[in-house]
Amino acid sequence: MSATRFTHAILRAPAASVTQGLRAVDTGTPDAAQFRADHAAYMQALRAAGASIVALPALEDFPDSVFVEDAALCLPEGAVILRPGAPSRLGEAAAMAPTLDALYGRVARIAEGFIEGGDILVTDRDILVGLSARTDAAGVAALRAVVEPWGHSVRVLVTPPDVLHFKTDCGLLDGETVLATARLTASGCFEGYRVIEVVAGEEACANCVRFNDVVLFPAGYPKTATRLREAGYDLVELPNDQAALIDGGMSCLSLRFTPS
Ligand code: GLY
Repeated sequence: MSATRFTHAILRAPAASVTQGLRAVDTGTPDAAQFRADHAAYMQALRAAGASIVALPALEDFPDSVFVEDAALCLPEGAVILRPGAPSRLGEAAAMAPTLDALYGRVARIAEGFIEGGDILVTDRDILVGLSARTDAAGVAALRAVVEPWGHSVRVLVTPPDVLHFKTDCGLLDGETVLATARLTASGCFEGYRVIEVVAGEEACANCVRFNDVVLFPAGYPKTATRLREAGYDLVELPNDQAALIDGGMSCLSLRFTPS
């Protein structure tokens, strides 16, 4: 399996209610028009990288629903409808289900516990899942029961305290290499992987997306961008200021997959 090569991506348009999105610390309200513009640029970047886009309509009742990654996990063998741990986001999973039912021959549903896609990093070898305020042991056990029979190994890790999601602090650069913050790397969770650390002071750029030949990377983190380019990665820098106000990053905005 390749965890970086895909044919499709699912995106959901930002709702006007995105201004009410959850945030750990209030540093300002997103501008809905700018959010839409940034989202359009992100969609175009995925298209240019080879994605056929499944564009879903905005859901006004779910301010955070633009962050589609938290509602489902897409694997080559099938899709899994997750159970977001934030009460205001739980209904996003049911809203995503019809789309995946139409695209995949096999769709499983997590019925117990809580688990959000932001806590799941799929590599060529493992599915790494970080326990967090949004993802609990029961949710991970339920995911394991689905994906192990599909041939995947699950490694359970701990998201550092005060970090929203495991992938807030990391992203996959290639099947064997992650970009990560020093604090996450120090937890030992990437044993066996090559790690490139973000430059100190640029921790907010750790969440990135490898899609085929390019890495979608938030603009505004020049030192880490240089480090990655020097390591041979082809970056597409995209504005993420609006999504960052409600704790969103590059990976949160899409589900990447190849239909089975
Ligand atoms: N605003 C994204 C989240 O908290 O899930």
